[in-house]
Amino acid sequence: MDSGPRSTRTPAPVAGVFVSAYPPLIAHRGGGNRAPENTLAAIRAGHAAGFRGVEFDAMLSADGIPFLIHDETLERTTTGRGAVAATVAAVLASLDAGAWHSPAYVGEPLPTLDAALALCRELGLWVNLEIKPSRGREAETGRVVAGTAAPFHAAGLPLVLSSFSEAALEAARQAAPEVPRALLVETVPADWQARLQRLQAVALHCHHAGLSQDTAAAILAAGYGLACYTVNDRQRLATLGQWGVTALFTDRLEFAGAD
Ligand code: G3P
Ligand code: MG
Repeated sequence: MDSGPRSTRTPAPVAGVFVSAYPPLIAHRGGGNRAPENTLAAIRAGHAAGFRGVEFDAMLSADGIPFLIHDETLERTTTGRGAVAATVAAVLASLDAGAWHSPAYVGEPLPTLDAALALCRELGLWVNLEIKPSRGREAETGRVVAGTAAPFHAAGLPLVLSSFSEAALEAARQAAPEVPRALLVETVPADWQARLQRLQAVALHCHHAGLSQDTAAAILAAGYGLACYTVNDRQRLATLGQWGVTALFTDRLEFAGAD
């Protein structure tokens, strides 16, 4: 078992949520490298590997149904072509989202957000649901994704919404203020605290390379959760753990057990 990130910080309630509810290690895109990203198979793989938490991305179909997918276009991870935002749900649901990864996953469908959240509830997973709007649909995506997540949250599924889009997070806040939110950034901006306050967010998620130890300490001292993506190096994992970072996203399912 790896010695992994641990925080000795006393948990602080932010917006009524204890950020210590974050698992220290989160499977990126469901199952990291081991299974096709953003699929039910990926979520099962993350769980089977021993992860208590998973992250995945949600985007709207042309007719407004949230599906799990990272890119705005279908080509890289599915058998479809063109823009996700120009493709209706019935077509998205018919695509193969596993064949690109490996033969074992041929036929794995592109899942709806609803199906993914139901699986997480069944498996007892903690969820970081990243709102991934296609360009121009930021507020709509935030509102619909938060509305889809809200009943799961109300039923006890531990869940944090995050997004690079502040417009999406603001729409999520208006649609379902009770569902916790995190601001996602690449590099921590100088005005991180004002942004978190404006969004009534519980945490900041950032690229691990865009964080200094001093900034990490300041964010944690202010009572916010702090999560870093995507950490695939054991040494870096240990360093960020020593800094007290609340949670780390990884593609390396073999890192399970670090918490
Ligand atoms: O939510 C953390 C991470 O997933 C953000 O980056 O591009 O992998 O969605 P990306
Ligand atoms: Mg993501």
